[in-house]
Amino acid sequence: MAFEKNYTVKLTEDSFRRMDEESDEKFYAIPRFTSHIDCFAMDAITDLYRQHLPNNAVILDLMSSLFSHLPEDVSYQRVVGLGMNARELANNKQLTETVVHDLNAEPTLPFDDDEFGAGLLCVSIDYLIHPITVLKEMGRVLKSDSPLIITYSDRYFETKATAAWLSLTDEQRGYLIKSFLVEAGCFENIQMMDCSPEFGDPLYAIVVRVV
Ligand SMILES: C[S@@+](CC[C@H](N)C(=O)[O-])C[C@H]1O[C@@H](n2cnc3c(N)ncnc32)[C@H](O)[C@@H]1O
Repeated sequence: MAFEKNYTVKLTEDSFRRMDEESDEKFYAIPRFTSHIDCFAMDAITDLYRQHLPNNAVILDLMSSLFSHLPEDVSYQRVVGLGMNARELANNKQLTETVVHDLNAEPTLPFDDDEFGAGLLCVSIDYLIHPITVLKEMGRVLKSDSPLIITYSDRYFETKATAAWLSLTDEQRGYLIKSFLVEAGCFENIQMMDCSPEFGDPLYAIVVRVV
């Protein structure tokens, strides 16, 4: 997929509704000690991170779980994982700090301005009901010129993905994310790419820099 078109995704009042409107706290209460994409897609994410993340960076892995997909042979100063399940986060060997925080209940990030030098949002943006506010917050907590790497695939918890996400093709989802980033107003150099491995789960990425 080349991402050469320029779709405009129309959002309505119902775009951020979900089949399961119960609290995310309840849904994520039981840990899932599993990966959410296959090993080929995970390797594609690691390659992407190797390419775009500065060595020794202070990293925020937003919507984190058991795996952060960072290259094992590169060292980072801090890797902070924010997610919904404390036990999943505690078992993520790449995180140096963990924070349990429901972004749908409270989209403000519990971090200081300019605290981080890189941001990751891996196969999870489809669950956010306030994506623009959360991305604005990423713009606040990331230093100027930091990379933010957003990845997505075609696998998700259907009952927790937003109506907007479910209604679109993989390609259109890329443009949906782009529209969130443009609306957030604090990112530049938006690069959309298809990083799908030859076999297995597809993998798409949007890499941006904080203004
Ligand atoms: C499909 S998993 C992806 C996890 C991880 N990023 C990865 O690459 O394996 C989605 C993750 O999003 C997080 N998440 C879902 N809803 C959330 C919310 N309301 N606030 C914060 N994190 C949330 C959960 O902790 C869950 O582990």
